[in-house]
Amino acid sequence: MQDLKKYNQPVPRYTSYPTVPFWEPESFTIEAYKKTLQSAYWESSKEVSIYIHLPFCESLCTYCACNTRITKNHQVEGPYLDHVLKEWELYLEMLPEKPLIREIHLGGGTPTFFASENLNKLLSGIISKATLSKEFQMSFEGHPANTRTSHLETLHAIGFNRVSFGIQDFDLNVQKLINRMQSFEQVKAITEKAREIGYTSVNYDVVYGLPGQTPESVQNTLDQIIELKPERIAYYSYAHVPVLRPAQKSYESHLPNADEKWEFMQLGKEAFKAAGYEEVGMDHYVLPGDELLEAREEGELHRNFMGYTPFTSKLLVGLGVSAISDSWSGFAQNEKSIPKYYEILDKGQLPIERGHIHTKADLFFRKHILHLMCDFKTRWHEAEFLEYGILLNYEMLDQLQDEGLITYSDEGMMVLPEGKEVIRVICSALDARMNSSKREHQFSKAV
Ligand SMILES: C[S@@+](CC[C@H](N)C(=O)[O-])C[C@H]1O[C@@H](n2cnc3c(N)ncnc32)[C@H](O)[C@@H]1O
Ligand code: SF4
Repeated sequence: MQDLKKYNQPVPRYTSYPTVPFWEPESFTIEAYKKTLQSAYWESSKEVSIYIHLPFCESLCTYCACNTRITKNHQVEGPYLDHVLKEWELYLEMLPEKPLIREIHLGGGTPTFFASENLNKLLSGIISKATLSKEFQMSFEGHPANTRTSHLETLHAIGFNRVSFGIQDFDLNVQKLINRMQSFEQVKAITEKAREIGYTSVNYDVVYGLPGQTPESVQNTLDQIIELKPERIAYYSYAHVPVLRPAQKSYESHLPNADEKWEFMQLGKEAFKAAGYEEVGMDHYVLPGDELLEAREEGELHRNFMGYTPFTSKLLVGLGVSAISDSWSGFAQNEKSIPKYYEILDKGQLPIERGHIHTKADLFFRKHILHLMCDFKTRWHEAEFLEYGILLNYEMLDQLQDEGLITYSDEGMMVLPEGKEVIRVICSALDARMNSSKREHQFSKAV
C-alpha cells in the first residue's frame, strides 16, 4: 500500500474548471455571457437545468462551508422568492425561445426553511414560463429536522422524486460540537415518509473528519446509515476552511488528525461496499440499478456545480444569491449579499458578481478533468495535445505514474485503483490555470 498521505494537500473539488478562484472576471462581459447562453441553449436542444439557491437556515451548523444566511425570521421568504422569479424572467428574456426544463435542484442553505406554500409558489412561477422536458428530474436538499410531510407532499405533486437529507453524523458528541442536533429516529421517520409519498431516491450526505469523531463513532454512524438503506450516499471529506468560515475555529482542538481522517474514509468505503453499494466518481455510493451506474457504463456520467448527474447538461442556470450558472463556455456567479442581489434585480439587471468566459485551452482542460472525475480515465487527441499539452504539469504526472497512481495505454491516461483516493490531486496536474497562477487560494485538503 502506497503512502498516499503526502498527497493530502489543499486542492479544488473540481465541480468545474477553471475553479472559481482562477476565473478571469476582468475579461467577462454580460454580452459575451449572453452569447454563450444562447449557443448552449441550441446545443442542448433547448433543454435547461436549473439550480435554485435557497440560503436561509434557522441556526448555524458550525462545520458548514455552504453559503448561508442564519435567521429565524420567516418574513424573508416572500421577498426572496419574488426576486428569484424576477431573475428567471431575465433569463427567459435572453433565451431565444421558451426553454425545456430538464432538471430542477433546490439547494442551500435549507430549502425546507421555506413554507411548502412558498416553495409551491416559486416552482409554479418557474415552471409556468417553460415546458417540462419528457425526462425531467427534480430533487431537493432537506434538513431532516425541519422537513415536514407538507414539504414532501407539495414537492412530490410538482414532480420531485429525489430528496437529499443532510445527516453528517449520528453521534451525539459530534452533533453537539457542530451544533447540529438530529436523531436517528427523526431521520428514519422522514425517510420512511418520503418513500411512502413516492420518492424513489433518497440520498444521505455524510461527512468524515468532523470534530469528535472516533473510529467507533464513525462505524456506528455508518451502521445506522446502512440500516436505513438510502439509494445514494455522498460521503464527503470534511472541508476545513476557517479563514472563510470562522465558526469552524470553535472546535479545532477536537478535529481528528490526517491519519484518523484517512482511516474514517476507508471505514466508509469498506462499510458501503460490504452493504452492496457501488462507488461512483468521487465521494458517491449508490445501490445497484442506480441510473448513475448506467450513465457511467454509457460514458454519459457528468459532474457540475450540483454534483454528479446522469447526463451532460450544456446549460445550467443558477438562480438565487451566490448561485453559479454554467453555459458550457462561460460561468457566472451571482452576488452573495442578499441586499445587493435585490438591488441589482430591482434595476432590472442580472445580479452577476463575477464570471468567466472560457478560452479554448480552458475547454480542453475542462473536458479532461471532467473525464477523470467521472470515468477515471481520459484520452487526448494528437492535435489538441500539440496545442495545449505544453501546459500539463509533467513533473507531477511523472511522479503519479512512478508511484503507480496513473498509467498510460492505447486508451489514454487511466487512474489506477489507489489513484482514485487522490483523484483531486491527479486532476490538479491538469489544472493549467492554478499551476501557472500566483494567486492565493483557500482550498480544503484532498482527504
Ligand atoms: C446545503 S447542505 C445540506 C442541506 C441542509 N441544509 C442540511 O443541512 O441538511 C449541503 C451539504 O454540504 C455538506 N457540507 C457542508 N459543509 C461541509 C464541510 N465543511 N465539509 C464537507 N461537507 C460539507 C454537507 O454534507 C451538507 O449536507
Ligand atoms: S449544514 Fe445545512 S442547515 Fe446547517 S448551516 Fe449548513 S446549510 Fe444550514
